[in-house]
Amino acid sequence: MLRAHAGTIKLIIEGFRKYNRVKLGLDWLQILEECKNNVKKQIAPLLKTLNQFESDLGVGAGGDPIKQVDLAAEKAITETLLEKGLSFTFISEESGIKSYGAKPQQHYITADPIDGSTNLTRGIPFYATSIAVSKKPELRTVHTALVADLFHDVTYTAVKGEGAKRNNQEIKPSKQTDLAEAVIGVDLNTYKAREIVPHITNLIEQTKHIRHLGANALELCYVADGTIDAFIDIRGKLRATDTAAAWLIIKEAEATITTLEGKPLNAKLDPREKLTFVASANRRIHNIILNLLKA
Ligand code: IPD
Ligand code: CA
Repeated sequence: MLRAHAGTIKLIIEGFRKYNRVKLGLDWLQILEECKNNVKKQIAPLLKTLNQFESDLGVGAGGDPIKQVDLAAEKAITETLLEKGLSFTFISEESGIKSYGAKPQQHYITADPIDGSTNLTRGIPFYATSIAVSKKPELRTVHTALVADLFHDVTYTAVKGEGAKRNNQEIKPSKQTDLAEAVIGVDLNTYKAREIVPHITNLIEQTKHIRHLGANALELCYVADGTIDAFIDIRGKLRATDTAAAWLIIKEAEATITTLEGKPLNAKLDPREKLTFVASANRRIHNIILNLLKA
């Protein structure tokens, strides 16, 4: 009886939030869902020709070689937004910063059209599309976010002040505080491994389960929903475009994300802007990790 009552209240709150989103302007969650669906549709034919030779498409604004699938995903996002008649500034890992419509400063859309492109082209089933909406080109103003695992059809979303969800179900991070039992992601994808390794040796020595799955936006969502207990990227290489959406999902799930010095993360939303961060399930394990990284 009580449970049924709680269910009804939850539905009323959800309905009220949706009504507010629409009343206040745009239902960005709905728009981002449509962008994701279009990305899935547009990249589907390309998934059939994985591992084939690709002509040189140059280097994207974020500094990595562009793949056909990245461009198809990016086009799917901008086309969906344009079909809605929106004015916006598009900040993307691939084509950099572009203005659309008469009032491009109205909305900032920051995207990594495909996060984990190498996984995708090699047939490793772990890649995502990541889209964030903000009022300014600044990380801390992101108010709506979506990161979708395109292979497993799992979508993470967050709206500022409304919590984070995985396939529409509220998520929370783990309560793990024991490093030995924790699953910790560490991105070591760098030619500067010699510089990074001394900082993480103490942590690795105390942790049994170290992972890097190859799509940072999704790995951050894994911290948000308790799949893993922390994710660390101290290479100074990860673009703000790849992190923007997952940042809000982490915050709204009430996980923790800071700089190496324990400061709140903020950045200009620009594909040339690089971030260093430690994201953890809870404050306790976060402090333990920060101390070990300092050592
Ligand atoms: C890459 C992934 C990967 C990380 C690379 C990123 P991309 O994103 O997030 O995990 O190690 O540094 O470039 O290039 O596939 O969008
Ligand atoms: Ca990408």
